[in-house]
Amino acid sequence: MTRVFDEDLTQGFGTRAVHAGQRPEPLAGAIMTPVYLTSTYVQEELGRNKGYEYARGKNPTREALERNVAALEGGTHGFAFSSGMGTVDSLMKLFRSGDHIICGENVYGGTFRLFDKILRHFGMEFSFVDTRRPENIKAAVKKNTRAILVETPSNPLMRVTDIQAAADIAHAQKALLIVDNTFASPVFQRPFEMGADVVYHSTTKYLNGHSDMIGGIAIVKDDALAERIQFILNAAGAVPGPFDSWLALRGTKTLHLRMRQHDSNGRAIASWLVDQVGAESVMYVGLTSHPQHDLARRQMSGFGGMISVELGTKERANHVLKRARVFSLAESLGGVESLISHPASMTHASVEPERRAKLGITEGLVRLSCGVEEPEDLLADLEQAFHGIPRAAGGSKREKAAAGR
Ligand SMILES: Cc1ncc(COP(=O)(O)O)c(C=O)c1O
Repeated sequence: MTRVFDEDLTQGFGTRAVHAGQRPEPLAGAIMTPVYLTSTYVQEELGRNKGYEYARGKNPTREALERNVAALEGGTHGFAFSSGMGTVDSLMKLFRSGDHIICGENVYGGTFRLFDKILRHFGMEFSFVDTRRPENIKAAVKKNTRAILVETPSNPLMRVTDIQAAADIAHAQKALLIVDNTFASPVFQRPFEMGADVVYHSTTKYLNGHSDMIGGIAIVKDDALAERIQFILNAAGAVPGPFDSWLALRGTKTLHLRMRQHDSNGRAIASWLVDQVGAESVMYVGLTSHPQHDLARRQMSGFGGMISVELGTKERANHVLKRARVFSLAESLGGVESLISHPASMTHASVEPERRAKLGITEGLVRLSCGVEEPEDLLADLEQAFHGIPRAAGGSKREKAAAGR
């Protein structure tokens, strides 16, 4: 089982990003961790080996990534998986038929789909609740509740959950608090410091940051819990290949630098969008107009590059999606390049239309993942994409103000 190098935890974030989990390779002193392309390891004699037996259980490249991200999150053990969804699926194997999980009602569509369309059939019970209010989480707790899973900020509605309050509720029930930290990254949000038991990521997103692999990772602090996850990882086998592990590891070296630019671009674009469509239509946790901005400020040290904007109709959304150029129309997020997407028909298409409508994932909702390009070019791109956009029914606040209404 992979454990952080304790000395890495004494370093600052940027130093951990570059070095944690990695040591010069013993043969030639290569500064970069090699890609260990092997499925097995030669054993010296029966029962004697170098700590590696078969690569499903352990691979040195994967271990370097696991140690690195565990150090970035301030945890002790990391477990890399073949995707973010592979991570959630493996974590759910900590539970069994009859167990109850409370999940935020607005999470990535694939997470909802896994719970609602697959794991329910295995006798697991899920309650999807609005976790913005801790009292809703508390009210959903049952005798058989074993975990609370929250995604904060949430995809795509940018809802914020009070991590400390959720941890207190979970622990009063001897349940685990599991936090999807994909949107904020450990640069801006540190769930372990607020009581989380498990932190996970789709490494496909900010951690890798270059849109060239699919992966996931779970981090824990507790040794007994780590043993159980290692068992699941090896037994169920949803592990990433060494090259994908290496790509993610190369990505984390610059995570702190990239996040600064994602954050400053996010802020600039969110305030430009406010001028276009009014603050009530722009969902960005860094805006003072965001209904949970105070909570976001309390538990995050930056706000990142994820913004959703309500344009009112699919026609208006499509106008912008079709014309954007520097923002590429694509699923995913967190890469150096800016992306624009339509959650209702892309990332959240697997959520039933009625449920989407109830949550507020409308046909007019557009999600932006602000990359690290020059802010002037991103703003100019949006300027031309919004040009000529059909008028909103009744007009947005800004349009009404312009018309003197
Ligand atoms: C917040 C969040 N968690 C988990 C996932 C799933 O990750 P993956 O696509 O790597 O399976 C995603 C994917 O978009 C996501 O946005």
